[in-house]
Amino acid sequence: MKPFSVLLSALAFSMASSTLMAKEISLPIPSATLPNVSPANSPLANRGAYVARTADCMACHREDYSGGVAIETPIGNIYSTNITPSKRYGIGNYTEADFTKALRKGRAPGYQLYPAMPYPSYHGMTDDDISALFAYFQTVPVVDKPPEKTTKLPFPLNIRSLMLAWNVINVPSTENREGLTQTQQRGEYLVNNLEHCGTCHTPRNLTQGLDKDKYLSGALLGKWYAPNITPDNDSGIGRWNEQDISIYLRTGKLDKRAYAGGPMGEAVAHSTRYLTDEDLIAIADYLKVIPAIKTDDYLIPVHVSRLPRPASDSITYNLLEQKDYLAQAKANTSINSNSSSSKALYLAVCASCHGVDGYAQPDARYASIVGLTSIRRAKPDALINVIAYGAKGALNTAPKMPGFSKELTHAQIASIANYVRVSFGGLPNSDVSATDVKRILK
Ligand code: HEC
Ligand code: HEC
Ligand code: HEC
Repeated sequence: MKPFSVLLSALAFSMASSTLMAKEISLPIPSATLPNVSPANSPLANRGAYVARTADCMACHREDYSGGVAIETPIGNIYSTNITPSKRYGIGNYTEADFTKALRKGRAPGYQLYPAMPYPSYHGMTDDDISALFAYFQTVPVVDKPPEKTTKLPFPLNIRSLMLAWNVINVPSTENREGLTQTQQRGEYLVNNLEHCGTCHTPRNLTQGLDKDKYLSGALLGKWYAPNITPDNDSGIGRWNEQDISIYLRTGKLDKRAYAGGPMGEAVAHSTRYLTDEDLIAIADYLKVIPAIKTDDYLIPVHVSRLPRPASDSITYNLLEQKDYLAQAKANTSINSNSSSSKALYLAVCASCHGVDGYAQPDARYASIVGLTSIRRAKPDALINVIAYGAKGALNTAPKMPGFSKELTHAQIASIANYVRVSFGGLPNSDVSATDVKRILK
């Protein structure tokens, strides 16, 4: 066994053997193989490679850490930097103390970072994890060039020391809970400090810090909506069991329930699919014990009896048969109704990828949309945004979903949304209007 796997199994063993690990769950799908781990590197550096995954540094600094990714913030785009050990363009001159300060306090040598770098979350990282990360970053291949884009904010936002006052109110961004089991404490550490789930799922307060009273209860994220992940049964994920949560974090999907097509797809692709079973279960275990917060964006439960059945397996899987079936459906629909009817629109615009019955083409890796949470919310915002702006698909190789904001009118988007919600979401009715679409897309 390689040193790293020895280490991981030691870690797994110490967790599994803990008496507090009440439930024996093991996940049906194994974790992705960790890249950047090599027997040539020290065990500490190899452990750091795993910590980097759990902290999702790659989502912002890129898989090669060369930086230049725009983080959209209310004050403008902030670009991530090169954090390879390049002495000229990266962090090659950092000492471990400098690195620790950057992670915990947002203090780079000589200047203050903006909280687009999630130091309010990394504030709680343990010394051991930071040492491992530091050792790992010494092994990362150098990228000897500056990022393509760098941050340029107008005065006075370019005065970085203004962040010092902000830090007093907003760092750390979370508090530790009392009375947790050892597994749940590990979950809390992962959720709050490493994975920084709250930077997307917790709404912001007036100063743009995380609103602790609304912890993980859902937040708008540009064109996406990060849903409520507290254990509330109606508006959160209270109906998901621990295995559901873990499988979603490992694969980015849950059959007939949820699909990570946007920013969550990225989080899964860069980070959570690499996590050990133990760590995913710890996250799930912790998410079950945080306070449930009810919001008005509740989920309409799936009525399985109202969901369509796949016409037949061979139609779902055989692309030629599916094509014929679609042609047939289109012919029938245009005979029986006028061409602006919602079904005809769906068939014309969406069905070539998602299928007549919403079950898509698993072999071509298009997502089934039957029963997804994104089409069963009281607020249609998430669905409208997907139709208007498309979905990138961090997790698969299928051609991405294009946005239709230019081709379709607001009324047509509303009409398709209603069709999808009722036919594939199993909702009793849906009355999204052109005005709603206009408001959502502002
Ligand atoms: C959510 C996005 C995001 C994540 C995740 C993230 N960073 Fe950053 N990081 C940034 C941004 C943006 C900057 C530049 C901030 C600025 O210009 O004020 C930055 C800056 C830095 C710096 C200062 C670099 C310099 O130029 O001196 C270091 C060091 C750093 N990040 C390390 C990390 C490490 C290590 C991780 C993972 C543990 C990580 N970052 C995760 C967005 C991120
Ligand atoms: C970069 C922002 C971001 C981060 C970080 C993030 N999420 Fe998400 N999450 C989203 C968005 C947006 C969605 C909606 C689906 C999508 O866009 O892919 C989502 C969906 C989910 C869902 C599905 C909920 C439902 O009702 O369908 C769960 C569960 C979830 N996230 C848990 C987590 C956990 C746990 C973490 C930390 C390990 C995390 N997320 C980190 C943005 C994020
Ligand atoms: C070119 C093929 C294509 C077309 C056309 C298309 N989609 Fe998609 N759609 C995709 C892909 C691919 C994904 C999943 C993204 C991924 O793989 O991560 C997706 C994802 C979705 C999702 C799930 C998003 C989520 O995060 O829950 C919904 C809902 C959806 N599409 C609805 C529609 C509707 C409605 C239309 C018609 C207006 C449509 N799609 C047209 C390819 C397509």
